[in-house]
Amino acid sequence: MLIISSRSALLSVYYPQIFLILTSGSYLALSSVVALGANIICNKIPGLAPRQRALCQSRPDAIIVIGEGAQLGINECQYQFRYGRWNCSALGERTVFGQELRVGSREAAFTYAITAAGVAHAVTTACSQGNLSQCGCDREKQGYHDYQEEGWKWGGCSADVKYGVEFSRRFVDAREIKKNARRLMNLHNNEAGRKILEERMKLECKCHGVSGSCTTKTCWITLPKFREIGYLLKERYMDAVQVEPVRASRLRQPSFLRLKEARGYQKPTDTDLVYLERSPNYCEEDTVTGSTGTRGRLCNGTSTHTDSCNVMCCGRGYNTHHYTRIWQCNCKFHWCCFVKCNTCSEKSEVYTCK
Ligand SMILES: *[C@@H]1O[C@H](CO)[C@@H](O)[C@H](O)[C@H]1NC(C)=O
Ligand SMILES: *[C@@H]1O[C@H](CO)[C@@H](O)[C@H](O)[C@H]1NC(C)=O
Ligand SMILES: *[C@@H]1O[C@H](CO)[C@@H](O)[C@H](O)[C@H]1NC(C)=O
Repeated sequence: MLIISSRSALLSVYYPQIFLILTSGSYLALSSVVALGANIICNKIPGLAPRQRALCQSRPDAIIVIGEGAQLGINECQYQFRYGRWNCSALGERTVFGQELRVGSREAAFTYAITAAGVAHAVTTACSQGNLSQCGCDREKQGYHDYQEEGWKWGGCSADVKYGVEFSRRFVDAREIKKNARRLMNLHNNEAGRKILEERMKLECKCHGVSGSCTTKTCWITLPKFREIGYLLKERYMDAVQVEPVRASRLRQPSFLRLKEARGYQKPTDTDLVYLERSPNYCEEDTVTGSTGTRGRLCNGTSTHTDSCNVMCCGRGYNTHHYTRIWQCNCKFHWCCFVKCNTCSEKSEVYTCK
C-alpha cells in the first residue's frame, strides 16, 4: 500500500488539484485514490495530453511514481546548475505535466533529457521495490542463465530498466503532439536521457562460500545513482549540438534533424543533446526565452567562476548583506553529567545581484 501523505510536497507541486482532494483525509492510501476514481484524478491534472490522460486512467498508481521521477529530474537539474545564471527555474517546472515549453534552447534540451531519465529511473526503482502492479524484477535475469565459464549466475533482483524506459517513453513522449521541429528536438533529447541511463546500468555481484571463498557468485543489475546521470547529462549539455529540421519529400512537416554546422545530412548521435536556438544570456527576465534573470540571486564575492558576482549579476552590481553567524563551540563534557559550551560568532557577508 502506498501512503501518499508523506508526498504532500511533491503532490502540491505537480497536482495542485489532487492535493486538495488528498488533504481532506489525513492518511490516504493509493487504494483510496483509485477508489476516488482515476477519472476524477486524471481529469484534474492540468495540461495532460490526450494519450497521457488515457495512461493516467489505466495506471493511476504509476502517476504518483511519474511525479516522483519528474521531481528527481528537476532536483538534479537544480543541483547541476546551482552556480549558473540559469538555475533550472522556469524551464524546470511543469515539464512533464504542465504546458509545453516554447523554447528550443540548450537548457530546454537538458531539462527534457533529465526529466525523461528521471521518470525511467523512478519507475524502474518502483518496479524493483514491488510498488507497481505490472512490473517487478527483470524476469530475464532470474537464474535461468548460468555463466559457467565466468563463474557466476543471475540472482537477486535485477532492475527492469527496459520497463522503466518504455514507460517513460509512453508517458513523457506523449506530450509531443505538434508536428514541428521542436517535437523532433524534444523526442531526441528524451531518448538521449534514457539511453544514457540504460548505458549506466551496473552489474553487482556477491560471493557465497565459506569465509568469502567465492565458490559461487550471484550477480544482478542495478540502477546507477541519479547523481551520476546528472553529471553525465551536464557533460552532454556542454557538448550539445545545434541542429535544424529537414523537411523530406513533399510533406511540409520536418522529418528529421541534421547537424547545423555540418555539410550534408549528418545526424546527431543517439546520446547527443540537441538544440535549435541559441540560448539567451539569462541576465534579464524574459518569459519568451524562459529566463528568470538573475536579480536577487546569491553570488560569490571571491569566486572566479560562473557564480562570481561579476558574472552572475551581469555587471549590474550587487548588494552586500551583513549578518552574524552564531553557533555552539568548544563543548566540554563535565563529570557528571553535563556538557558546557561557549557561544562563538563570526561576522559574515552575503551578496545578492542588483
Ligand atoms: C515503495 O513503497 C514504499 C512503502 O510504501 C516506500 O517507502 C518507497 O518510497 C516506495 N518506493 C518508490 C520508488 O516509490
Ligand atoms: C533560481 O533563480 C530564481 C531567479 O533569481 C530564484 O527566484 C529561484 O529561487 C532560484 N531557484 C533555485 C532553485 O535556486
Ligand atoms: C566562494 O568561492 C570560493 C572560491 O571558489 C569558495 O572557496 C567559497 O566556499 C565560496 N563561498 C560560498 C559562500 O559559496
